[in-house]
Amino acid sequence: MMHTACLVTSPDHINTRVVERAAETLKAGGLVVIPTETVYGLAANALDAEAVKKIFVAKGRPQDNPLIIHIADAADLPRYVKEVPPEALRLAEAFWPGPLTMILKRQDIIPAVVSAGLDSVAVRMPSHPVAAAIIRRSGVPLAAPSANLSGRPSPTTAAHALGDLDGRVDLIIDGGPCAVGVESTVVSLCGPVPKLLRPGGITPEQLKAVLGSLEIDPAVTHMLKEGARVASPGMKYKHYAPKTHVVLVHGGTAPYLKFLAEKRAAGERCAALCFDGELARAGQPALSYGKQKDARSQAHRLFDALRNVDTLGAEVVYTHCEGPEGVGLAVYNRLLRAAAFDEVFL
Ligand code: TXA
Ligand code: MG
Repeated sequence: MMHTACLVTSPDHINTRVVERAAETLKAGGLVVIPTETVYGLAANALDAEAVKKIFVAKGRPQDNPLIIHIADAADLPRYVKEVPPEALRLAEAFWPGPLTMILKRQDIIPAVVSAGLDSVAVRMPSHPVAAAIIRRSGVPLAAPSANLSGRPSPTTAAHALGDLDGRVDLIIDGGPCAVGVESTVVSLCGPVPKLLRPGGITPEQLKAVLGSLEIDPAVTHMLKEGARVASPGMKYKHYAPKTHVVLVHGGTAPYLKFLAEKRAAGERCAALCFDGELARAGQPALSYGKQKDARSQAHRLFDALRNVDTLGAEVVYTHCEGPEGVGLAVYNRLLRAAAFDEVFL
């Protein structure tokens, strides 16, 4: 196998030769892994249908799961979408550049393959300086899903992306660990009321403050019934999953720790995925994914922790989380999918 080259640039002092190399590769129809503030993205020129098709192959991504296009300037939005409703302007003003994706009506310049044939398109303007520099230098919007093999946890370091995609992409740009750690918040502006399709670093509370009203798609917190129509195709797949079976346990620290102790006493080869402050009492093996009552720290570390779960040698991992307030909704949403909706209520 041919290994993929990995080039490093600090986000604070951008190496223009690294950016140049990424842009040249993208303009030539290649695939480049780029850092963003949410997770690493697997980028291709969004205006080049052949390049975009390679993304689906490299990730093993189902053909019916649409991609997000990334722009460097909010003023470019009207080129790629048919209408820019006032809500989109307000959201862009408040949260761009940053971890917010908007679904709008697609202009024909964006090939149908980007949107898996839908007449809408997802658009985001990342705040990561390296991502912004690469988009600018390429001179085109970049289609980019998370840079993981389909179904695996999203990569929050270049090493995660390399582990999944070595030999499958043309270039990897290492711009350091991702600040947010979970994928962008996705809001659809195609219906009568703005709808949250995927929670992320921009919270429902923040969105409501700007929009007034916001619907939350039931798929954010519930398993879809067989045959149900999905607003966001990405939400129907088992996702973010380690190889070890994950179970999401609902209950505070005390009942959770008691549950773990009982499972261990019964001889179950289980592991705990808990909070820093619980590690000493959770038994072995155990791993933390963040600080208690600090959903931003949990989001930041969650995917790295999920990747490390498989090193614990357990048959099952019991995890728990806190309330769905703020970024906590994104943490809950990702853990539910990592667990493929296998939940225990104490
Ligand atoms: O933070 C992020 O959004 C990262 C970085 C790389 O920007 N990207 C990312 O892409 O998470 P991906 O492909 O892993 O997730 C895109 C999500 C999927 O759930 C997909 O179904 C949804 O957005 N999506 C994309 N286009 C859509 C559309 N036209 N309508 C509804 N959902 C859409
Ligand atoms: Mg993804």
